[in-house]
Amino acid sequence: MNSYSFRPPLLILAALGCCFGGSPLLNDQTSGVIGKNVTFKTTITSAKDFLTITWSFNKGSEIAPIMTSVVTTNPDNIEETSLNRITYNKTTCELQLGPLVKEDEGEYILSVVTLKGKSLSGQIDLNVLEPVTDVKISSNLSEAVELNSTVVLTCSAKGSFTYKWLNGSVPLAVDGTHIKQNAVGNELTISEVYRTDLRGPIFCVAENALESGKSAPFNLTVSYGPEQIVMTQSPTGSFLTKGSNLTFTCSAQSDPPAQLQWMFNGQAMPQKTSLNITLANVEEKHSGNYSCVAYNAKTKRFVSSQVAVVSVLGTWPRSQMQNFCLGEV
Ligand SMILES: *[C@@H]1O[C@H](CO)[C@@H](O)[C@H](O)[C@H]1NC(C)=O
Ligand SMILES: *[C@@H]1O[C@H](CO)[C@@H](O)[C@H](O)[C@H]1NC(C)=O
Ligand SMILES: *[C@@H]1O[C@H](CO)[C@@H](O)[C@H](O)[C@H]1NC(C)=O
Ligand SMILES: *[C@@H]1O[C@H](CO)[C@@H](O)[C@H](O)[C@H]1NC(C)=O
Ligand SMILES: *[C@@H]1O[C@H](CO)[C@@H](O)[C@H](O)[C@H]1NC(C)=O
Ligand SMILES: *[C@@H]1O[C@H](CO)[C@@H](O)[C@H](O)[C@H]1NC(C)=O
Ligand SMILES: *[C@@H]1O[C@H](CO)[C@@H](O)[C@H](O)[C@H]1NC(C)=O
Repeated sequence: MNSYSFRPPLLILAALGCCFGGSPLLNDQTSGVIGKNVTFKTTITSAKDFLTITWSFNKGSEIAPIMTSVVTTNPDNIEETSLNRITYNKTTCELQLGPLVKEDEGEYILSVVTLKGKSLSGQIDLNVLEPVTDVKISSNLSEAVELNSTVVLTCSAKGSFTYKWLNGSVPLAVDGTHIKQNAVGNELTISEVYRTDLRGPIFCVAENALESGKSAPFNLTVSYGPEQIVMTQSPTGSFLTKGSNLTFTCSAQSDPPAQLQWMFNGQAMPQKTSLNITLANVEEKHSGNYSCVAYNAKTKRFVSSQVAVVSVLGTWPRSQMQNFCLGEV
């Protein structure tokens, strides 16, 4: 905090002794957490000009005294009338209260009477918050399919708070179409989820003015693909001599990895589901059209590669082969 924006009023108050006409309290409301302490700050820097100092609690139905100090007779004589959970600062008249219970919520009143007989008083409202615990993210789905699934994440927590979502370490961007958030803020709806949306990891933060709690990291694997299928042939080229070895390799982007099926002339090749196939010592009967098909069992999508057209030529003498090729051109 910038101390310059804060200090000058205090200095003026101090110069005047205290309490420039108004309340001797620094704020008119504050918050505390159950089980923790709260201090009611004052603008008082010295209580030596005071005759009596009284703190009381307005329960709504009645005003109950908390403590009274008669400074001139015996500054140490503090009557604790109703609460034993207080610590009083004789210099500043500040009162610390705690560990807080829910019933401490209400209005606290500080009244002082100066040696000149002038009365000053101020009130401060105490809001008692529940501690934030058990911050958790739950998902409507345990698996998702890219562009098909709508994922709804729900954050739950115990205590008094508002919600915030983080994607990794940065605030999660809610655009209102792809990602929507409910009014309370504890529910995120991600439509047509994309593969990278929920790798975050995603965190939910439940926080109030005084404390915050963070969930465990959450991520969700979004199945996608197959796509960008590529089949490569080795050796390359459409014409092969009899007795050559021919290898095809197929790859596709997919999560989980795609299952492959090799096709020959539009028919599935039996038992050929590996990433590559090698045809050793090819013959004319191996001439035809080769392709591969990739299938993702989670997305139930498949995609076919381009078709490689292969012709196996007989082993002719080299000169005849050249003539044949020239004749074709
Ligand atoms: C809270 O106040 C109690 C007594 O009122 C004191 O014993 C305790 O140390 C305080 N806790 C903190 C964190 O200041
Ligand atoms: C009273 O408050 C003043 C100012 O915050 C601080 O310097 C001083 O130590 C406090 N005294 C006690 C007894 O807590
Ligand atoms: C989280 O951040 C990653 C990387 O910037 C981004 O690709 C992804 O779409 C984000 N997820 C959400 C739900 O905003
Ligand atoms: C999701 O998180 C778990 C551990 O929290 C990690 O093992 C896994 O790799 C993460 N998955 C992704 C897609 O980031
Ligand atoms: C074809 O592969 C076999 C082994 O699988 C090898 O012995 C043979 O020499 C290869 N033929 C050619 C023409 O590369
Ligand atoms: C191979 O594909 C071509 C078109 O690319 C087609 O004309 C031909 O008939 C196909 N051959 C077989 C055996 O399916
Ligand atoms: C994708 O969505 C359609 C219609 O919403 C559904 O019929 C289909 O089963 C979904 N696909 C997968 C893999 O869940």
